[in-house]
Amino acid sequence: MDSHKEQLQSRPRFSSRLSIIAVAAGSAIGLGNIWKFPYITGKNGGAAFIVVYLCCIALIGLPVLISDFIIGRRGGGNVVSSFRSLAGKRSPWLLGGFLALFGSATVLSFYGVVAGWSLEYIVKALSNEFAGKTPAQVGEMFGSFIVSPVEPIVYQLIFMATTAGVVYAGVKKGIESFSKLMMPVLLGIILLLCIRSLTLPGAGAGLAFLFKPDFSKLSAAGVLDALGHAFFTLSLGVGAMITYGSYIDKEEDLATTAVQICMADTVIALLAGIAIFPAVFAFGVEPGQGPGLVFVTLPNLFAQMPGGYFFCVLFFVLLTVAALTSSISMLEVSVAYVSEDLGMSRKRATLLLTGLISAVGVVCSLSMGEYQEQLTFFGKNVFDLADFAVSNIEMPIGGAISVLFVGWILKRRKVNDELTCNGKRKVPFVGAFLFTAKYLAPMGIAIVFLHSLGLF
Ligand code: PFF
Repeated sequence: MDSHKEQLQSRPRFSSRLSIIAVAAGSAIGLGNIWKFPYITGKNGGAAFIVVYLCCIALIGLPVLISDFIIGRRGGGNVVSSFRSLAGKRSPWLLGGFLALFGSATVLSFYGVVAGWSLEYIVKALSNEFAGKTPAQVGEMFGSFIVSPVEPIVYQLIFMATTAGVVYAGVKKGIESFSKLMMPVLLGIILLLCIRSLTLPGAGAGLAFLFKPDFSKLSAAGVLDALGHAFFTLSLGVGAMITYGSYIDKEEDLATTAVQICMADTVIALLAGIAIFPAVFAFGVEPGQGPGLVFVTLPNLFAQMPGGYFFCVLFFVLLTVAALTSSISMLEVSVAYVSEDLGMSRKRATLLLTGLISAVGVVCSLSMGEYQEQLTFFGKNVFDLADFAVSNIEMPIGGAISVLFVGWILKRRKVNDELTCNGKRKVPFVGAFLFTAKYLAPMGIAIVFLHSLGLF
């Protein structure tokens, strides 16, 4: 048996269909849905941005997700070795794998910072620090917390250590059990928040902001944000879904799984919007204020609810766990590569990579406070720059590489085998998928890029 086949057989597999959905949805659903989606929607003027975002998910995100799964499962390895086994040892497509390694590490560096904020908010919620405060005071609290040079870093490092612990424990034990448990509870609490938010006086303005599009508010930069966020929220273009794809059983229906993940992810993001914006308008919070939006609005919303103390604690616990099921998928990308291809033990690889990524994260955190001046480049602090560079540039390029590879390079028979589970399922849309992967999705990405450069 050749070594590739051996590797394929020895790789761990997720144990059931529910596990795959839970784990891949666990990667997709995270801070992107609950923290980032509302704040960039607020920044970009609301409903029109959401329309473009939904188009990006359906026309670009979904085919890229299916392509990532195909590359991972067919390639049967980490993000680099999957491309290698499908394209050949010296193929330029391998660069796609290395780009993804860089992307996943960069996302994790700033993601760990925001997850640290969420962790700290569990402590604040437990000690009832939001009680009796006005929205403006809660805003000040957030503002002074994130610029402090020590506290956010301590929580960031605790979060990163937890991520490393789960990744270190291995794919099955660690990741599966976590993901299955938390999704339904998170959904339940977001639904409760929606109900409370919608019944606040003045909630209607928030709903109009979310669902009445005014395209004059949408800029070219907003369209690029929408595309970038479609990638970010589905964990695309950075190898996470390629790596997870390699753990999916051959019998699983990839396209259906991908559709279900897109739907679950979109529903959670929209519900987060419905929970937040009516409250934003009811409390007179500034919708375009940026990364603090959720951290400022929600504690106020909880304060207006019966049992608010309990729900606030539970919410930030769940948000932190949702961040964890995403961060482990980011770390898994590089740990799988370093341990499988560079021959380092999984333990060492986990420790080393967590250390490096956390160090960059510390710089991201410091760039929002005292060292902002020194740590600002091209008009953005390192935190915003890392987010912009990965979400709006690296991820769309990585995603384009996946669809182009599956559309143009992989043999049609192989794509067909993957989508039909070696002919066992009838899949009527293989041709439509290939057309999208070859033309529509790459053209969509190119158009948004050119538009954002003012060339279109
Ligand atoms: N999709 C995650 C979220 O929405 O929070 C973020 C993410 C996870 C990005 C994994 C990239 C990744 F590889």
